Amino acid sequence: MATQRQSSQIEDFDDEDNLFYEVHEVVVRKLGHVPIAKGDFHLLPVGVQRFIAKWVQICQPRGLYICDGSQAEATEIIHKLEDRGTLHKLTSKKYESNYICRTDPADVARVESKTWMCTENKYDTVPHVATGAQGILGRWLSPDDAKKSMKSFEGCMAGRMMYVIPFSMGPIGSPLSKIGVEITDSNYVLLSMRVMARVSNEVWKVLAEGDGEFVKCLHSMGCPRPSQRKIINHWPCNPEGVFIGHFPAKREIASFGSGYGGNSLLGKKCFALRIACNIAREEGWLAEHMLIMGLTNKKTGKETFVCAAFPSACGKTNMAMLTPSIPDYDVRCVGDDIAWLKFDKDGVLHAINPEAGFFGVCPGTNMKTNPNAMLTCMKNSIFTNVAETADGEFFWEGLEDEIENKSVSITNWLGQPWKIGDGGKAAHPNSRFCCPASQCPIIHPKWEDKKGVPISAFIFGGRRPQGVPLVFESFGWEHGVMVGACVKSEATAAAEFKGKQIMHDPMAMRPFLGYNFGKYLEHWLSLDKAPNKVPKIFHVNWFRVDDKGQFLWPGFGDNIRVLDWIVRRCEGEENMSIKSPIGHLPKKGSINLNGLGKLDWDQLFSLPKHYWEADNDESRHFLNQQVGEDLPKVIREQLKAQGQRIEEELFYYEGEKK
Ligand code: PGA
Ligand code: MN
Repeated sequence: MATQRQSSQIEDFDDEDNLFYEVHEVVVRKLGHVPIAKGDFHLLPVGVQRFIAKWVQICQPRGLYICDGSQAEATEIIHKLEDRGTLHKLTSKKYESNYICRTDPADVARVESKTWMCTENKYDTVPHVATGAQGILGRWLSPDDAKKSMKSFEGCMAGRMMYVIPFSMGPIGSPLSKIGVEITDSNYVLLSMRVMARVSNEVWKVLAEGDGEFVKCLHSMGCPRPSQRKIINHWPCNPEGVFIGHFPAKREIASFGSGYGGNSLLGKKCFALRIACNIAREEGWLAEHMLIMGLTNKKTGKETFVCAAFPSACGKTNMAMLTPSIPDYDVRCVGDDIAWLKFDKDGVLHAINPEAGFFGVCPGTNMKTNPNAMLTCMKNSIFTNVAETADGEFFWEGLEDEIENKSVSITNWLGQPWKIGDGGKAAHPNSRFCCPASQCPIIHPKWEDKKGVPISAFIFGGRRPQGVPLVFESFGWEHGVMVGACVKSEATAAAEFKGKQIMHDPMAMRPFLGYNFGKYLEHWLSLDKAPNKVPKIFHVNWFRVDDKGQFLWPGFGDNIRVLDWIVRRCEGEENMSIKSPIGHLPKKGSINLNGLGKLDWDQLFSLPKHYWEADNDESRHFLNQQVGEDLPKVIREQLKAQGQRIEEELFYYEGEKK
C-alpha cells in the first residue's frame, strides 16, 4: 500500500529501511557479485553486455534491473516511489494515474555551466573565439579533465539499484531512428524515460538485427548509500558534483549528480541534440531544436508542415499544439521540441519527432493558452515541482481561474502551505509536465510515420520586446541561415540564468550545440544542393511590446494568422509582401486580422533604423568574437550586405514614428 507520507518534509535520514522491497530479487543470477533483480543479462547484445558490465564494476550498484518497458514494470516502480515518498498520486477524480514529484530545491533546471562536450581537439567542439573573448557557443572539456570528473562515478551507486533502459529515439525500426541504452540509479528517470522515449524490449531486437550501434547513456544521482548528504524530499542528488559530459566520438554520455529532465533524461537534449547533431553532420542530415506541426487548409484540404526553432521557454509547446482563432485551418502536432530532418532521394526534406512525450513548462499553461497540453496531461503524467491543491489537483501560476475551488488550500512546490494571493510562487517557474504525446487530442496521425513528414518552412524566433517585427521572410537559404545564426531571446528559467537579459541563442541551439558552431553553419549551408529542395526560412516574434510595455500582438491561438501568411507564401501566393532591408515583410492586409480587436500594425511592423543599425553591428561583433575564423564567409557577407541595406535603404517603413 502506498503511504500518504508528505514528500516535502526535510529528511535527514536515507531510505535504507526500504531496501527490502525488491521482492522478487533473485540472488542466484549475478553479474560479478551483483545480483540481477530483473531481466536476462545473457540475452542482451554483446556490446550492451560490455557497456553494463563495465559500469557495474565502477558504480557498484547493489543490483541490476534490466527494464522491459512493460506496464507491469511501471506499476511496480510507481508503487516503490510512492512508498518512499518521491512520488505521490494526484487524487482528483479528473485524472487517471497522474503523479506529482518534488525535487531537492537545488536540482530544478539544466546546469549549463557543468555541461561539456569532450573531444580530443578543442576546435571540434568550439570555434576559434577572438582573443580575450569568453566563448559561449559550446563548452569544451579536455579528455584528461573529463577523465578526472568521471572518477565521481566510482562507487556512486552503492546501495542503489542500477536500471538498464533500452530506448529508441524515433519510431522503433524507422531508418531515421536511433537506439540508446541508459543506465541510471534513478527510478524517477526510468519512469520519465518511459514517457519521453520508446522504452521496449523490441529495441534489443533492432540492435541484434541492425549494426548493433547504440548511444551509451550513463546517469547517476551521485548519492551512494550511506548518504553523505542530507536528502531532501526523498530526492537524493549531488548539486555540487554535477557533471554532464558528452563524448561524440564514442557516442557516449555521462551525467552525474542531477535528476532534472534535461540533465538526466539523456535521450532528450544530450542524445537527440548534442550527440545526434554530430551523427547528423556525418550522415548529411539535421538534428534541431524545433517543433514540427501540420497546418491543413480546410478549403483546399492541402496540408503544409513547418518546423519552428525558438529558444527554451518561448512557447514551442504552445505553438506546436495551437488552437486556431480563425476557422480556416486544422492544426496537428508532430512534435514540440526536437526534429530530426533528412532529405529523401527526391530532395524533399522529411522530419521525425525523435521523442515520445512532452516535457513542458507548467506555469502559464492553462485551458486558454494551451488547452491541448492540458488535455494531454489528464492521465499517465508526471508533474515535477508544481503545487497541489487539497482536492488533489495540480496547481501552478496561470491556473487561478481554472481550479474548481478558489479558496482551497494549496501546498506549494516547496511543500509549504500557500494560497492564491500569497507572495512567492506556488510552482517553480521551471516546473514541468511530462506526458505521453500519443494522448494529445491533436496529435498528427502520421506522428510516428517512419518516413517522417515533408517540411515546407523553417521558422526562427525568440522573445524580442523591441524592434523585431511580427514576421518576415528571409531572402533565401543563405540569408535565412544568417537569420537563424542571429537568433536572440530573453533569458529562460529552463537554465540557471537570472533576470531578463537578451541573450544570443543561435539557431535556438546555443545550450545544445554538439560541435563547432562555424562548422555547424557550414553544414547547414552545404544542404542547398541538387536535388535538395531547401525550405523557406521565416522569422517571427510574438513578444514585441509598445512603449508602455504592453504586448502588441495577442499571441497563442492568434499566431495561426501569421502561420496562414507563411503557408500562403510557401504555396507561392504573390503580392503579399514588401521588400525591406531585413527580409520580406507582410503587406498591409495580407495577414488575416478578421475578428481581432484593435491592432497597431504600424508599430508591430516598424523597423526603427537606429535599432537595426545597432542590431546589425552587435550581431556582427558577436559572430566575429564568438565564431571568429570559423564563421563561413557566406554568413559574414550576408550580414555585411544586410548592414548596407539598413544603412542605405532604411529611411522609413510604414508606421515608424519619425
Ligand atoms: P527545454 O528544456 O525547455 O529547452 O525543452 C527541457 C529541459 O530543460 O529538460
Ligand atoms: Mn527545448
